[in-house]
This record gives sequence, structure tokens and C-alpha cells, in this order.
Amino acid sequence: MTPVLDVAGLSIRFPNGLKAVDGLTLRVGAGQTLAVVGESGCGKSATALAIIGLLAEGTQVGGAVRLSGQELLGLAPDEMRRLRGGDVAMIFQEPMTSLNPAFTAGDQVAEAIRAHRAISKADAAREAVAMLERVRIPDAARRARQYPHEMSGGMRQRVMIAMALACRPKLLIADEPTTALDVTVQAQILALLDELKRETGTAVLLITHDLGVVADHADHVAVMYAGRVVEHAPAAQLFARPEHPYTIGLLGARPSAASPTARLASIEGTVPDLRTPPPGCRFAPRCPFRIARCEAEAPALTALSAEHGVACHRAPLEASLAA
Ligand SMILES: Nc1ncnc2c1ncn2[C@@H]1O[C@H](COP(=O)(O)OP(=O)(O)O)[C@@H](O)[C@H]1O
Ligand SMILES: [Mg+2]
Repeated sequence: MTPVLDVAGLSIRFPNGLKAVDGLTLRVGAGQTLAVVGESGCGKSATALAIIGLLAEGTQVGGAVRLSGQELLGLAPDEMRRLRGGDVAMIFQEPMTSLNPAFTAGDQVAEAIRAHRAISKADAAREAVAMLERVRIPDAARRARQYPHEMSGGMRQRVMIAMALACRPKLLIADEPTTALDVTVQAQILALLDELKRETGTAVLLITHDLGVVADHADHVAVMYAGRVVEHAPAAQLFARPEHPYTIGLLGARPSAASPTARLASIEGTVPDLRTPPPGCRFAPRCPFRIARCEAEAPALTALSAEHGVACHRAPLEASLAA
């Protein structure tokens, strides 16, 4: 089946020469949530912006980004604009940056509806209230008349989700949608995204720096490190059997004291400077399992099974450490 989103060999080079993303591959099917996880600065937001064509002019983007088989890289700006808020919608960490402070929540949702469908203002206003109800905003008719500054962060994020879903997108990109929210509201928003995904069949790309967030909300997880995917697997498998030393470190895996992976309970060192990335595996300088080859040659993302890929010269790790 053609995936909703198919990113292959994506590379992003900013005008200052910094290569934020290098040979990135991702796939998301209808009704699926792919979580993209990685430390701050690993290229998650740049990837999202490349997919929706919002990187600043002068940024070089290579590879392929296909939406239901259609190539998006190289589309004319007006075609890309039509896709945004249509087939592809995005929600950000801070809803205030995308909500217009001068318009009520109801007006903004109604505008999102009208931007892609020919319906009257009155009908759009009614539908906007229904959308606000759907994202569980209590007393939606009254809330629809409020301005963003009159709402809490959690409420604003619900309004953003309502706007995104008003377009009935095939793909919803959520870039750290709950990072600014307290834990309880975070859980509510993620549960809401799950429910809407199930109802609408929208594919969700959930970007987060927090592996904890993804355990219950992702079907598949891609772990990014310094502009590349280092491991991907179905969520349950990634948590049960992480293979890449970086994933093991992120999980703070504390197996038996006898296990060599216990050494990675916390990852020492810092993310490499992307202006001068290390030549081989980008994680090698921090990796307790590195061998000479790791410093010389970048490992390719290799399939351990149909659904589990890892970019590590030492994979499978346990077997390789035992040898
Ligand atoms: N416009 C830009 N120009 C130059 N470098 C940038 C720009 N935007 C982001 N970067 C750099 O690209 C890298 C990836 O950034 P980003 O995608 O925002 O990371 P993440 O979302 O994973 O925290 C970082 O090193 C960041 O400093
Ligand atoms: Mg980011």
C-alpha cells in the first residue's frame, strides 16, 4: 500500500552551510502515528518544515517527500500553499505563534474551514463550534467567541487541533504539541489526537524530544540522531528490544548489572556540531561500543526484520558483544 507520507533520502542544508538533515527516511501509513524522537537540535523541526515546504528560501532540500505518492519537493509555492491546511496540516508547540490574536477562536476555525471548502460564513461558524466540541472544549459556543489570550495553553492547543482537522488532512504533523503544557493536559491532548486519528484515518507525524510521550501514542517510532534516523521499529518492539546504543541510552535502559548495556544508563557527551559532523557514525564519539569502523564509515539503516531498522555497525548488539 502507498504510504500517506514517504520521505526518502531527505537532506536539508541551511544557507549558512549547516546540514541539519542528511539522508533521512520515514514512512507513515493511513491511521498510523509515527513518532519522531530525538534530542533538541537533531533536525526534527527542520524535517517537518521541509515536508510542508516552509523552510526559508535559500535552504537546499534534496531527496524525496511524497504524499500519497505525489512528490512535494519542487512544487510551486501556490500548489504547496493549497496542500497546507488541506491535505497536510501542522500544529506547533506554541499555539500563540500560529493563532491570530486579533480573531476569536471560532472565527479562526471557521476561516480554516472556508479556506478549503465553498460554504457560507454562517455554516462555517456553526461547523466551527461543532469542531470545538469535537476537540472537547467545554461550552464550545461561548468559547468560540473568545480570543486566544483569554484561553489557557491547553485550550489554545485544542483550537489548533480543531483548525488542523477542519481541513480533513491526510497527514497531520504535530511538532512538540504538548511540550509547553503540564503533564495532565499533555495526556489529554495526546489522547485527543489518538481518538481523532482513529475516527478520521489521518496519518500523524508526532515529533517529540520525549520518548516517554510516545510509548502509549505511537504505532511506530523513528529515533533521530544528528540529522539521521538511527533506529525505527513498532513502538512496543523499540521499547522491548532497542538495538541502537543511542536508543538504549535514551531509554535509560538498565538491564541486569551483568549486561554491558548497563553502561549506557546515561549518555555522556553532547550532540555533534552539525557544521562539522564526525565522518563515520555520528554517535560514535559518545558510543561505548564503538569499534574502528564506526569512526571511519557511516552505517546504513539496515533491516533487522521487516519492521525494525537500525543504523549501527554492531547490530545486533548482544550477539556482537558476545562474539
Ligand atoms: N534557519 C536556520 N539556519 C541555520 N541553522 C538552523 C536553522 N534552523 C535550524 N537550524 C539548525 O539546524 C539544526 C536542527 O534544528 P531543528 O530542526 O530545529 O532541531 P529540533 O527540532 O530537532 O530541535 C540545529 O543545529 C539548528 O541550530
Ligand atoms: Mg524542534
